[in-house]
Amino acid sequence: MSNGPLRKVVFPVAGLGTRFLPATKVVAKEMLPVLDRPLIQYAVDEAVDAGADTLIFVTNRYKHAIADYFDKAYELESKLAQSGKDELLALVQGTLPRHVRCVFVTQPEALGLGHAVLCAKPVVGDEPFGVVLADDLIWNAGAGALRQMAEVAQRENAGVLAVEEVPREQTNKYGIVDAEPVSERAARVRLVVEKPKPEVAPSNLAIVGRYVLPGRIFSLLENTKPGAGGEIQLTDAIGELLKESPVLAYRFEGERFDCGNKLGLVQATLHMALKDPQIAGHTAELVRKLAK
Ligand code: G1P
Repeated sequence: MSNGPLRKVVFPVAGLGTRFLPATKVVAKEMLPVLDRPLIQYAVDEAVDAGADTLIFVTNRYKHAIADYFDKAYELESKLAQSGKDELLALVQGTLPRHVRCVFVTQPEALGLGHAVLCAKPVVGDEPFGVVLADDLIWNAGAGALRQMAEVAQRENAGVLAVEEVPREQTNKYGIVDAEPVSERAARVRLVVEKPKPEVAPSNLAIVGRYVLPGRIFSLLENTKPGAGGEIQLTDAIGELLKESPVLAYRFEGERFDCGNKLGLVQATLHMALKDPQIAGHTAELVRKLAK
């Protein structure tokens, strides 16, 4: 994998979000708020923190709200400016730093995560890039998970997958790795399996929604046949990649919330509320009351 900072990050956002129906009939699941910011904002902030200046959204006809959200809101901004609401103006303008550009590519058919990532090929080309799945929200007080991974990828000249241990009975919800530890946080991946049943899973170390991959993955994806669930799986292409170049499983520093389901979204919201100076105290009180 060629050395260099991570400039491009792909956000596959064409999923249906069926776990949040009926809200997701009209609201993209990436636009669901955790406190006052949509999930996609946390994902974008993490990518920018990792050094990205080109964000590639793999989207579909139902997800225009994501493009609108990152677009300049002239009318709103001028009204806020005229009425001197500078703090609100800064919030609205802060969704995307000036040096960062967004590119939208469409995934015409929902053929799987691997297929979604492949749709970004014309924009990414042949350089290392990140993939962020916005429904895995990862919070860390220091460097974001993707920045940690980008540094490892650059230093070790390897692909890097974010992993964490999950309960055995949940292996069928994740890509699962078999990996040999090489340092405190990193392990060399020997095998990856998409959504294995607990009784055949090689471990309980699951890939969560962050990847740093070389451009080479695209040609492997082009030759990837449908796998688990009849979909073109990114995990299967990574299985081919690791036969020719190193791939590391990386236990990131930070806390992950699976906002692809209701409980995870509630946990993330509580977590952020307890960090918000304006409502932390009341939230803590509320949690104590409810626990009685
Ligand atoms: C996808 C990947 C899977 C990974 C998971 C992380 O699955 O295919 O390997 O473990 O994201 O969230 P999905 O959740 O889209 O079914």
